Amino acid sequence: MAFPPAFLDELVQRNPIEEVVGQYVSLKRSGSNLFGLCPFHGEKTASFSVAPDKGIFYCFGCHKGGNVINFQMEIEGLSYPDAVRALAKRAGLEVPEDQQYQSRYRQQERLWALHKEAARYFHAQLYAPPGANALGYALGRGMSKNTLTKFGIGYAPDSWTGLVDTLRSKGYTEEELRDSGLVTVSRKNGNLFDRFRDRLMFPIIDVRGNVIGFGGRIMTEDKSQAKYLNSPETLIFNKRKNLFALNLAKKSKLGYLILVEGYMDAIALHQYGFDCAVASLGTALTEDGAALLSRYTEQVVLIYDGDAAGQNATQRAIPILEKAGLQVKVLQMRDAKDPDEFLKKFGADRFRLLLEESSNRVEYQLRAIGRKYDLRDDDQKVRYLQECADLIGCLGSTVQREVYSTRVAETAGIGMDAMKLEVDRARKRRQAKEKKKQEKIDLSPARNLQPKSRTIRYDNLHSARAEEMLLGLCFQEPALLDRTAELTPEMFSAPILGKAYAQMLERHSQGLDVSLGGLVDFTPEEMGHLAGILQRQQGPVNEQALLDCVHTIRREYQTHKVESKDDLLALQSAMKERKGIGP
Ligand code: CTP
Ligand code: MN
Repeated sequence: MAFPPAFLDELVQRNPIEEVVGQYVSLKRSGSNLFGLCPFHGEKTASFSVAPDKGIFYCFGCHKGGNVINFQMEIEGLSYPDAVRALAKRAGLEVPEDQQYQSRYRQQERLWALHKEAARYFHAQLYAPPGANALGYALGRGMSKNTLTKFGIGYAPDSWTGLVDTLRSKGYTEEELRDSGLVTVSRKNGNLFDRFRDRLMFPIIDVRGNVIGFGGRIMTEDKSQAKYLNSPETLIFNKRKNLFALNLAKKSKLGYLILVEGYMDAIALHQYGFDCAVASLGTALTEDGAALLSRYTEQVVLIYDGDAAGQNATQRAIPILEKAGLQVKVLQMRDAKDPDEFLKKFGADRFRLLLEESSNRVEYQLRAIGRKYDLRDDDQKVRYLQECADLIGCLGSTVQREVYSTRVAETAGIGMDAMKLEVDRARKRRQAKEKKKQEKIDLSPARNLQPKSRTIRYDNLHSARAEEMLLGLCFQEPALLDRTAELTPEMFSAPILGKAYAQMLERHSQGLDVSLGGLVDFTPEEMGHLAGILQRQQGPVNEQALLDCVHTIRREYQTHKVESKDDLLALQSAMKERKGIGP
């Protein structure tokens, strides 16, 4: 996806950031910066800044930031290349389409087309003679004809090369077949075979409507085989970043999304009118999955299986969803193991009742605690109350604490005052703990330096602080990069900062302008982080400050190296010792 650096430089120059941002945000000057209301999060005070001299934007509230290309991506929801194209158009520049990017894109397009072909083949097989059994199975499990069409359900026949032959006849190369993940390669002779055989096939479709993979279910209860076989990760398929049925659910008018565990659950829900259901793809919910959900809704109803595994998965999913800014409700499955079974047993109306009484996550967690204790036993009752108090003590709102305290007190049959006292105590305990933690951080030399971001962590805060400062200085005064010969990117403790440093050196050595605009291959979140470093950089640019940074980073690097060598030596001697006393 690499555009030529010289082109990107011109692109950034011809699209002054204050002009581009100014099309979306009304900006007021204050010193060398411009400020306005952040377009990326709701706010009443202007914490969104643009620094024309540095060519960056940065929001002190939500920490989004980057160069003009990042802004264009974020505000219009574009991919990097598409944002570049949009800005090129705006400035009347011709885009030199990059070879590598083009070939990767073409490869993707071929794989999408190949998958569409495969889905057509599987679907047709379902209605052909070899698919009779599979069709019977699908109908027997309650899928309507309409559902089979809507989800593109298919059948992979019990044949070694049915799909391989079909795809070959459509002109797909051996390499494309291998890259698709839909075939396996014989270890003996390198021949290609169908990966999915004699399975009911569920196409996995991304939000743009491309078929990107398949799940295939066996049609017996044979425990010796995996019930589901899924496509492996490919150029177009990442199971952590996609959700089954989101292509349909995103159009739902219901105003929330339902997250379930199984393909069959999602399909049944759609068929019974709950067209907002999605399922994860054979993995636990990931942060990427939650982020994807948050693009389409603010509220998620979790409906995992009623068994212990399902309940554990629920407890794990709650914080992931909340971190992504989603409101979470939990429906506790009962009288059936999963939504699919429930709908078939009791129908949509009963399910709607369940949905209406589904609780927010606090109620759910309180109930989960309740199930662990026998309240007739005094000792257990005390522990029940303490655990509930811990949970309630974490809630930020007084009203919430009041409401849940009352409820718990009633359940346990104790007075409201006693419960309140317990919650207050739990709250104080927690605050004391946090204060201690904060003091520890404050005492550390590089306080409060840990990035605000969820995915960027610093292992060595002391070094990272020097690294950030060094980057800030060099952004302001690129000539300083001539004075850092002793410092190589590998010496950086934070990979993201080392990577930025490497690219800055490279550009500087080629006589190119060193700015955030020139950095490539960073995620939006990383770009925001880098912009934050730049925007917070204050103080005079001087060589001594730079040399101090270089010194610190080198020293930390050396110590760290020695440390790990020590660890290695200790390990080796420990192993020798064990051998000594062994048989
Ligand atoms: N799964 C998987 N591989 C398996 C078993 C399960 O990838 N061997 C994933 C599938 O995405 C499946 C989900 O986990 O949809 C939930 O599993 P399960 O509840 O067993 O399947 P259901 O979809 O409910 O299917 P069914 O009702 O046919 O049992
Ligand atoms: Mn299930």
